[in-house]
Amino acid sequence: MNAPTSRAMTADRAYDPLSEQSHLDPYPTYSWLREHAPVYYCAARDVWVLSRYEDVRAALRDWNTFTSTGGVELADYVGFFGAGNCLEMDPPRHDVLRKVFTTRFSTKAIKTYESMVRATTVELLDGIEGASEVDLASVLTNRLPVLTICRLLGLPEADMPWAVEASIDMMTRPPDEVGPSAAAQRLRAQLVELFLREVDTRLSGVWSDDVLSDMAHAIQDGTMNRDEVQGATLLLIAAGMETTSSLMGNIVSAVASGQVDPQALLDDAGDLRPPAIDEFLRYDSPVQWLCRVATADAEVRGVRIPAGARVLMLYASANRDPEVFTHPDVINLDRDGSRNLSFGEGIHFCLGMPLAKLETRIGLGELFARYPRIIATDEPRRYPSHIIRGFDSIPVRVA
Ligand code: HEM
Repeated sequence: MNAPTSRAMTADRAYDPLSEQSHLDPYPTYSWLREHAPVYYCAARDVWVLSRYEDVRAALRDWNTFTSTGGVELADYVGFFGAGNCLEMDPPRHDVLRKVFTTRFSTKAIKTYESMVRATTVELLDGIEGASEVDLASVLTNRLPVLTICRLLGLPEADMPWAVEASIDMMTRPPDEVGPSAAAQRLRAQLVELFLREVDTRLSGVWSDDVLSDMAHAIQDGTMNRDEVQGATLLLIAAGMETTSSLMGNIVSAVASGQVDPQALLDDAGDLRPPAIDEFLRYDSPVQWLCRVATADAEVRGVRIPAGARVLMLYASANRDPEVFTHPDVINLDRDGSRNLSFGEGIHFCLGMPLAKLETRIGLGELFARYPRIIATDEPRRYPSHIIRGFDSIPVRVA
């Protein structure tokens, strides 16, 4: 890879997306990057970093120059989900595969899932009835998203507990792990076996009203092939799980630490207010960054990024850009934060945004209605991931 020559890029304050500092509190470094090195080369990971809102947005829109086909993480996990993962594709194949899922994840369809999401939340909260000290990540914020996706996929209830635990374990990545572990690979294979069994059941004539049936129909009419079930299904599980868990967990943790008054989050119906959800998405982006690969030499702010280079898009920094959001480091629940880039931009814009917002609106509305007082009993513990910013443990007292 060509080493950068500009002083602007090789400034002495190092940013490493995999450092401990980036894991604990990346925001001061993002601020420094935006101001002093908006196009930064991180030699330790051989990756270029864009941190300003306009630059990240423009690059995400330009999929011809910044392709997803080289994978969107640092190199270790590229290709893990296998064929059918439209996150790692460009048009035209990307658009064909994505279309298989758009109706079922549209805003209109999502409205019809409201009672299912509410019932799932109530079921989870009933499980802690009578307890005063709980870990809200393990009982609610990390369970509701994955259960919801498994139900939308149409997995049999009997397979649900195993599928939920297997999905969570498959996605849990120790910080020092280089590539998927043997355990993650084994769980991946077992999950794919389950999805294929269910798709084959539908192809044999036992249809249902669910995502697995949509895929079986797409196989029948030649839109997708059976091999692509793996990547498509694992993407839905992975993309919708830790991301939404993090959004919910970040809000719960802010309430538990006293940073935010839960009543200020709620609307008249007792659900979470949409602007409050947008503000948390902006303030602490669940997906901090993802990558692209430059297909040709590209120039950003006068700096040349060489063809073949991996380019890291700092969504979380874009969302704190003072040129777009005034007082970006302050949580303002009445701000219009809807321009945030937390769901990406362009052709890969998050398919699950309406679902993620529905789960958060209803799931946390139900939680705060049942427990007006939620107080932290210990520090929450962060996911080991450097990409996903959220918690895998939020110990609290509820009343
Ligand atoms: C707060 C929750 C969520 C956040 C922050 C989030 C974030 C994102 C981001 C940043 C992207 C763009 C990736 C890129 O540019 O390469 C994306 C794509 C995607 N998301 Fe989400 N997501 C969330 C929830 C969900 C849910 C609930 C689902 C549903 C199953 C989902 C499914 C997807 C899919 C399938 C894609 C790929 C779209 C494509 O490549 O065309 N996400 N998400």
